[in-house]
Amino acid sequence: MIILKTPEEIDRMRRSNKIVAEVHELLKEMIKPGISTMDLERVAEEETLKRGAIPAFKGYSGYPYCLCTSLNNEVVHGMPSDKKILKDGDILSVDFGVQLDGFFGDAAITHPVGRITDEADRLLKVTEESLNRAIEATVIGNRLNDISYAVQSYVEGEGFSVVKDFVGHGIGRSLHEAPQVPNFGNPGMGPRLKAGMVLAIEPMINMGGCGVKVLNDGWTAITIDGSLSAHFEHSIAITDSGPYVLSRL
Ligand code: MF3
Ligand code: CO
Repeated sequence: MIILKTPEEIDRMRRSNKIVAEVHELLKEMIKPGISTMDLERVAEEETLKRGAIPAFKGYSGYPYCLCTSLNNEVVHGMPSDKKILKDGDILSVDFGVQLDGFFGDAAITHPVGRITDEADRLLKVTEESLNRAIEATVIGNRLNDISYAVQSYVEGEGFSVVKDFVGHGIGRSLHEAPQVPNFGNPGMGPRLKAGMVLAIEPMINMGGCGVKVLNDGWTAITIDGSLSAHFEHSIAITDSGPYVLSRL
């Protein structure tokens, strides 16, 4: 069942997502060659607690950290580590969520570290643009899979591949609610989009093939062919006046 949110609840979700966006901004400033992904984790936890919020991922299904930090060929759910030191040319996906006043916020950004190759830069731009196209499709009257199709048709046209093993999701009083939001599918299918739905849309895009596998740590998903992977996510409320991107400052 898709839980619709009242305008008052959407306002509360705006506040949790604002914290997500603020912490993302701080992390972005830190992302340079020489820092470790655990340095990012420490700042994310401190800044979340300072704002009176609760990290959403830490303890979720036993996940041990506030951030997912997925480096290069890691797709999602990479874990912060003192041993993972960023270097020039890397790309780093940072996924972060909080709970505030009973409601969750969730967003992800893939950052370049120093100077990256033109093709890696194109991967980041195409992935972010696929999210923007998905957001444009997140309007009353469309169907859920119109969002999925917006991502897949654009990304594949650019010669990259869509990860099928992980999906976006409804979000609200739980981090993950119905519906699942795949990044692939046929237009005109799925439930109709209604005012009050809040979706976390999160395309995960590989430079090579779409295959992924999960490492023995039980979390880290990597590309099977070793190619680079990017991930962007926003939490978006559907309103009478269009998509409202809650996790954008
Ligand atoms: N943004 C991801 C998601 O919505 C992060 C979840 S990581 C987990 O699924 F550790 F919380 F599972
Ligand atoms: Co999410």
